[in-house]
Amino acid sequence: MKKIAYINEKIKSFNSKIYVPGDKSLSIRWILMAASAVGTSIAYNLLKSEDVLSALVAIKKLGINYKINKKNCKIYGKGLGGFSFKKNTTIDAGNSGTLARLIFGLLIKSKNQIILKGDQSLSKRDFSRVIRPMRMFGQNIDSKNQKLPIKIKGTNYPRPINFNETKGSAQVKSSILFAAMQTPGKTTIKSVPSRDHTEKLFKHLKLPISISKKKNLDLISYNGVKNYNGFNYAIPGDISSSSFFIVLTLLSKNSKILIKNINVNKSRTGIIDILKIMKAKISLKNKKNYNGESVADIFVKSSSKLKSINCPFKMNSRSIDEFLLIFLVCAKANGVSKFINIGELRNKETDRLKFANNFLNRIGIKTEVTKDSLKIYGNPNLKLNKTYEIKKFDKDHRACMLSFIAALSLGGKWKIHDIDSINTSFPNFVSLLKKLGAKIN
Ligand code: S3P
Repeated sequence: MKKIAYINEKIKSFNSKIYVPGDKSLSIRWILMAASAVGTSIAYNLLKSEDVLSALVAIKKLGINYKINKKNCKIYGKGLGGFSFKKNTTIDAGNSGTLARLIFGLLIKSKNQIILKGDQSLSKRDFSRVIRPMRMFGQNIDSKNQKLPIKIKGTNYPRPINFNETKGSAQVKSSILFAAMQTPGKTTIKSVPSRDHTEKLFKHLKLPISISKKKNLDLISYNGVKNYNGFNYAIPGDISSSSFFIVLTLLSKNSKILIKNINVNKSRTGIIDILKIMKAKISLKNKKNYNGESVADIFVKSSSKLKSINCPFKMNSRSIDEFLLIFLVCAKANGVSKFINIGELRNKETDRLKFANNFLNRIGIKTEVTKDSLKIYGNPNLKLNKTYEIKKFDKDHRACMLSFIAALSLGGKWKIHDIDSINTSFPNFVSLLKKLGAKIN
């Protein structure tokens, strides 16, 4: 694949229906859960991106077979405790924070030591958030500065834990639930609400999870240990991938888009609620329930009269992966937008708060940034006519795709580096844009 893209003109009006690939969070969870199920599981519409392939290679290293073809992916699970691998087997999580963190939980009872590593960007990220609860379960973890590579060895006698999850991190919550699955007794998590795909999957599989929702806190408990059978899953489209097309449509003239069959789980739809507050024309159609997840088509129309937002911080975890796009919309909105408690953005594939601030300044937008907040002075008449070169973003797939959307909706002449990073989550992103009429070289 080419590493650099050039965009020299805005996209023309479009009126299209598209499908985006399967949800990344659900794809990775399905793989890890199927690996510990008893018997065969089949997934349809599994996302075929680098993060997901890393998860398949990881379970293969743990002695679990899979077959993947155009139609589906089959995993031949061996039940809880069914992994077999040699001492010092290396698992490479690539760029995937989700895989790297969730796999700790799966390895809570592993008899042999595993070496977990990742790419350059993942190796800069902090793992203390998952190391702490895993050590409470009794897992043996050897790490320098709480970063990858990390050596992990399980315990024969994991202890149930009571944990306060304060960051709103679904990765931490899910790694604890994966460990709890194999731990006798009752594990409890007091968790700031975050995406709840793992809980929904556990419920769908009739595993002994209970959840009570308090104001701004979820109380989750799991009573281990219970095996479950292989299960099939048709993975709905990814709202995070859809969001690039939602924002492209909003910021383009006389355009409409229908994005089919998207997972609109409430814990993921912060971007829709935020953009609606900003007066964006977005609606959900054909809403249905699938295996406990909400699925719908998303309909979007160009919206020229966007207004700023004072974003309630309760929205943060519901839109955590979409902030770069939301900030771009704020750049075109009337008034000053404010975001607080968004320090978690500094812990993503790149420091997204720093990236966003520099990006907005370079396209002529005034901002005020602190360690965990951002103010954006919107300009509804924003039109770009300079040249912009986007590089050095730690190959963050979302930073890269954001640059495409800015270029196609705002104008100017753009040179975007490291476009192979897009393969992390959305391999057909550029071809879908071209289908809508985008000129990309
Ligand atoms: C994810 C959780 C989020 C999100 C990431 C995917 C998941 O991370 O940013 O892209 O699938 O659980 P945190 O749990 O660190 O917020």
